[in-house]
Amino acid sequence: MTPEQSIITSEYWHDRALRIIPGGVSSPVRAFSSVGGTPRYFVEGRGSRVIDVDGNEYVDLVGSWGPIIVGHAHPEVVRRVTESVAKSSSFGAPGPNEVLLAEEIQRRVSAVERVRFVSSGTEAVMTAVRLARAATSRKIIVKFVGCYHGHADALLVQAGSGVVTLGLPNSPGVTPGQAQDTVVVPYNDVDAITSLFAQRGNEIAAVLTEAIPANMGVVPPLPGFNALLSNLCKKYGALFILDEVMTGFRVSSGGLWNLAKASESWTPDLFTFGKVIGGGYPLAAVAGCAEVMELLAPVGAVYQAGTLSGNPVATAAGLATLELCNKELYATLDRRAVQVGEAVSDALTVQGVAHRLQYGGNLFSIFFSPHEVRSFEETQHQDLKKFAAFFHSMLSQGVSLPPSAYEAWFVSGAHTDRDIEVIAAASKIAAVEAARTTS
Ligand SMILES: Cc1ncc(COP(=O)(O)O)c(C=O)c1O
Repeated sequence: MTPEQSIITSEYWHDRALRIIPGGVSSPVRAFSSVGGTPRYFVEGRGSRVIDVDGNEYVDLVGSWGPIIVGHAHPEVVRRVTESVAKSSSFGAPGPNEVLLAEEIQRRVSAVERVRFVSSGTEAVMTAVRLARAATSRKIIVKFVGCYHGHADALLVQAGSGVVTLGLPNSPGVTPGQAQDTVVVPYNDVDAITSLFAQRGNEIAAVLTEAIPANMGVVPPLPGFNALLSNLCKKYGALFILDEVMTGFRVSSGGLWNLAKASESWTPDLFTFGKVIGGGYPLAAVAGCAEVMELLAPVGAVYQAGTLSGNPVATAAGLATLELCNKELYATLDRRAVQVGEAVSDALTVQGVAHRLQYGGNLFSIFFSPHEVRSFEETQHQDLKKFAAFFHSMLSQGVSLPPSAYEAWFVSGAHTDRDIEVIAAASKIAAVEAARTTS
């Protein structure tokens, strides 16, 4: 291979990346660790398609893990971002777009009285946790096994040996001290959470949950589970933090809570948002009732800050994206999610590959397991080798799936009937590969 040829492959860039960036990636799931092989180095996206440095085009079912809800390089988003960036990348001072975006979030999520912008979902959740502890003068945060809320120390915690236990660090560098005030509970386990509150309710600052867990594959809450969490929090004086970083403005115009409130009456004290609200730029938010949110500096004493928080370009992208997130878009996302899920599921069924297609609104994933999955424990029965074989066959046929069996798949408003045909045809071949692969 000549130097000119070698420079146009993902392999070339990955070799080079490995020498300077740990694992060659800026975020671990991109590394293909669980499926093997070399990550694709993408250089362009148009609508539903992404193009790698080698010149291959793929139907994209990753969508940057959620933000690309209207498709790549949507002309209106590009126009608004270009207009904004031409005027400056950042002022480090307030701007009109922040106000407009905060108002738009409030318009869509009626329980939101105040919004504070940050640059990542991790920061949003970290701030929500700090606020909850300050508001209640309590320490304990309850989280669920398999729910991911970013990489703040107190949340990189795994369950100990009991059903309900104080957390243990699940990353070197997190100290027992940082983990010990987090209690980890199995997801969808009504008895576990109820008995935890009965024993220690007056020590709990907050319950933190993904609105629909989608970081262990999609594991929807059992009917009434979020309502139970909210009611327990209310009864014992704890706060209920609903993490809608993934679901917010994706599963409906206002996220999961907006969907749920049609039939259930509960309201989180705090929400966290990210992904869609930045339209592909680094932007996230903590939001909720004024009483708690106004504990934030400079009104209150809870410190939180960010050089690039509420950045004008990111908020321009977020505003343009949310303006495109109308009724028609959500109808399209719902339809495309069903079409993709069913095409893949049908192909696997024909080949006799055991699997389970699970939805949480238009978020979905396919577990390579014969059983329904209601908790992280139940994700462990998957055949990961079959997933890896399926994944690589799809990739080689021009369909880019999340490179892990534990991730949700994302459709966008830009996916077309032609994309569905490509996915269906590729799935038929990939299902043969999965059937042929044995663990
Ligand atoms: C539910 C949830 N919360 C928080 C985060 C962290 O967000 P970020 O990656 O922007 O820090 C994620 C990221 O995937 C998420 O899915």
